[in-house]
Amino acid sequence: MGKKRKVISVIVLAVLLLGGLSVTASAQSLKSLSKQLRDLGREFYIGAAVPSNLGGSDQNIVTTEFDIMTCENDMKIGTISPNRGQYNYSGGDRVVNLARQNNMLVHGHAFVWHKYNPGWVDGTKSMMEEYITAVGNHFKGQIWGWDVVNEAFHRDGTFRINAIGSNGQDGASVFGQRQGKQYIEDAFKIAHRVDPNARLIYNDYSISTLDAKFNGMYTAMKDYMQRGIPITGVGFQMHLNPDFTEAMARSFGEKLQKLADIGLESYITEMDGGAPNTSTSGLEAQGDIYYWITKVALDQPMFKVLQVWGIRDSQNWRINPDAPEDKAVAPLIFNDNGQKKPAYYGIQRAMQEKIEELSETPTPTPVPTAEPFDLGDCNHDNAINIVDALLIAQNYVSLPVQNFYQESADVNCNGAVDIVDALLIAQYYVNLVPAFQC
Ligand code: XIL
Repeated sequence: MGKKRKVISVIVLAVLLLGGLSVTASAQSLKSLSKQLRDLGREFYIGAAVPSNLGGSDQNIVTTEFDIMTCENDMKIGTISPNRGQYNYSGGDRVVNLARQNNMLVHGHAFVWHKYNPGWVDGTKSMMEEYITAVGNHFKGQIWGWDVVNEAFHRDGTFRINAIGSNGQDGASVFGQRQGKQYIEDAFKIAHRVDPNARLIYNDYSISTLDAKFNGMYTAMKDYMQRGIPITGVGFQMHLNPDFTEAMARSFGEKLQKLADIGLESYITEMDGGAPNTSTSGLEAQGDIYYWITKVALDQPMFKVLQVWGIRDSQNWRINPDAPEDKAVAPLIFNDNGQKKPAYYGIQRAMQEKIEELSETPTPTPVPTAEPFDLGDCNHDNAINIVDALLIAQNYVSLPVQNFYQESADVNCNGAVDIVDALLIAQYYVNLVPAFQC
């Protein structure tokens, strides 16, 4: 083969290799993994909260990676109805349209909440009914599920009526003050009458970590279920801190099971778990938390949706929160530049593992061998060829590979097995580089 033809072959190979890589990488998007889970009978959706001004590259991330969106603020009463009887649906409609164009679902957030209410919100039943009816009717048929009541319990598990102490997390609810705890079940009944096909969700924070709060909430939910109040499931907000442990994830799984046992679905509605710091190890520790949570959640068949609360770290509310106790470092799964973080890969890995488990593909153990193999012979078949290059490429994009020996793959001996090694093997295969040696 002439030199010119060899060069052309290498270019063609490199293009094929990289082309194959990009196909493989996009095939591994969170959205494609959730589709695979659903195809295997595991109903599950992956989602994110979106701002009203969703920029082009964020829109690209959202439509590539997610199945479901929540308006971060555009379906809250303060945005929709700053004045009684006036309704502004523009932000919410934009998100609903984007979802429709991209075959995505929309999660509505939230009808009744004690926070960020405009002055006209007096907490009476008639006011609550008027608002839920108007907004529920406007979005009827477009909403997969509504957060009907948000954050109705104090941290000690009692109903949020008046404030306890001066901690903002235990502030008062004007709905509780005007109607007592009765407003919670009434809100669900009204929402069900308005949009009977939407899932109706009770949503709250710290219910995965504070047992007292979970137990108070659970006792109320059990009572509602026994009395036929139309509630579909419980949303866990998951504004976690870096001290979250694997044991806490297991305890979260037990809570999901308790809810499943009384017929309730569960969801993660607003995940943004802070990192200890932004060093490599800090972000990896955060990735572990995302992995544990996703793993435990996917093990519960009644758990249906995992949503992160925003796209890029820099956009998350916890970077600059109203209350200091909400502050967090880099809490999301994409960094400020929109690149995937270990937290992203933590979710991805847990999803891939569930897919493998459901597909019942036993992971073959590589046959141990004492023979010294040549650098570049990544599958130890005594040949250095394009299969070895492809194995490296697959391993590089975190696809499970069989008979892959890392020690033979780092052909440029720089301590990393990456795409450069794959390209070097492709070049070696067409005689453009001599044998490898460290
Ligand atoms: C936050 C938004 O992210 C901020 O942009 C806004 O200023 C305040 O609300 N629990 C909830 C969400 O239910 O609605 C909150 O969202 C975060 C805490």
